[in-house]
Amino acid sequence: MSSQRVSLHGMWSSRAIFVMATVGSAVGLGNIWKFPYISGEYGGGAFIVVYLACIALIGIPIMMAEILLGRRGRSSPISTMRQLAREEGASPAWSLVGYSGVVAGFLILSFYSVIAGWALAYVFQSASGGLNGVTAERAAGLFGDLVGSPWQLMIWHSVFMSMTVVVVARGVRRGLERAVTLLMPALFAMLLIMVGYAYVEGDFIRGFEFMFNVDFSKVFQLCTGAAEELQCQFHGEPVLVAMGHAFFTLSLGMGAIMAYGAYVPEHASITGATIAIAIADTLVALLAGLAIFPIVFASGLEPAAGPGLIFQTLPIAFGNMPGGQWFGTVFFILLVFAAWTSSISIAEPAVAWLVEIRGWRRGSAAVLVGCLAWFMGIGSVLSFNLWSGEEYQLFGKTLFDLKDFLASNIMLPLGGLLIALFVAYGAGRHMALEELAISRQHLFDAWWFVIRFVAPVGIAMVFLNSIGVF
Ligand code: PHE
Repeated sequence: MSSQRVSLHGMWSSRAIFVMATVGSAVGLGNIWKFPYISGEYGGGAFIVVYLACIALIGIPIMMAEILLGRRGRSSPISTMRQLAREEGASPAWSLVGYSGVVAGFLILSFYSVIAGWALAYVFQSASGGLNGVTAERAAGLFGDLVGSPWQLMIWHSVFMSMTVVVVARGVRRGLERAVTLLMPALFAMLLIMVGYAYVEGDFIRGFEFMFNVDFSKVFQLCTGAAEELQCQFHGEPVLVAMGHAFFTLSLGMGAIMAYGAYVPEHASITGATIAIAIADTLVALLAGLAIFPIVFASGLEPAAGPGLIFQTLPIAFGNMPGGQWFGTVFFILLVFAAWTSSISIAEPAVAWLVEIRGWRRGSAAVLVGCLAWFMGIGSVLSFNLWSGEEYQLFGKTLFDLKDFLASNIMLPLGGLLIALFVAYGAGRHMALEELAISRQHLFDAWWFVIRFVAPVGIAMVFLNSIGVF
């Protein structure tokens, strides 16, 4: 049935381009900025194992579901969900998945652009020689100066949001195809060089151990009381965060991948593409960790330094390696590109939807979405300076933290849960069978089992645990 449908927004010219664009969406600040800093905050090893398990057991199956829905619907996530629900005789309320995705997209874009702005600032910092020979203290000072200045952050946030709007306005296809094919491999190569540096100059063993030495009791137990009568309890928050991050890093649960799936050529294999995307994404995150933690330990820094972690550690490497000024500049440029290819996919569901329902030109839709996200971003900017104090916090979180927490740890997994439920129960087996066209029956059956039981039950249990049900 879907073979007659063509997306109003254009199509990828090949499956390989789809994979590249989706890797572009998946690989971004989530891998290089967020993964190391939350792994650091939640104690490393055990947290990383849970994150990897979530990628394999929940992320990959749900990504397949999102792509297949997108390709079948061939429109924005909101319209796709509405239309497929109608075709399958399910409730029109399923389109709420699309709406909640658009809201999550705004929340994410409104902090993503601010952090990408930091990376932009570091391009110039590095190119001008500002990182040459920095010590750990100086690197921390430079970062503090940057985030302490609302004006600087606003400028970089504005620049990055404009960059996003320009590409989205031109249509993801034209804007993206060339950029991702070149830049993603370059980023990968650069990370390998950084890991090489960390191996030689950093405390590689400790960094490695921190990441891969799995001690569940350290991360998932909260103990109180004196040594003799220690009371230990299961501590679920790291599991919630690890699961949320699996969604965030794979761009799942908000329709970004569904929107990209809408432009996939008819006969492309969804399974192979998904596995390639997930592997690439995971490798980049692990490499980023291996580049950063050895430097953290060698420089006496704290793994739990928070969102500034990579900006306080990588400059030490660049500042002290031969040719570091050049390497640093190239690295931050690539980081900006990685963030750019992600941010356009965050905006895409909202823009595609506005084009469909309002008949607007992409340009106008992109500008509107960009302006709204920019405005919301002011709160993220101020979270690091004027509004960083306790009087501006809720549950001990700044506005930036709250937006990240709500979008990444609640809305994305919830969206993913509903997507799994729609594919498994709202639509049913025939649709998935047709779209996935997996030739090996037992592979399909395994996926079907996961999408019906493992993923929904897993997500639901993590949620129930975090609201204290058990
Ligand atoms: N996956 C992107 C990253 O890791 C962020 C993203 C989230 C993109 C949600 C699209 C949708 O940086």
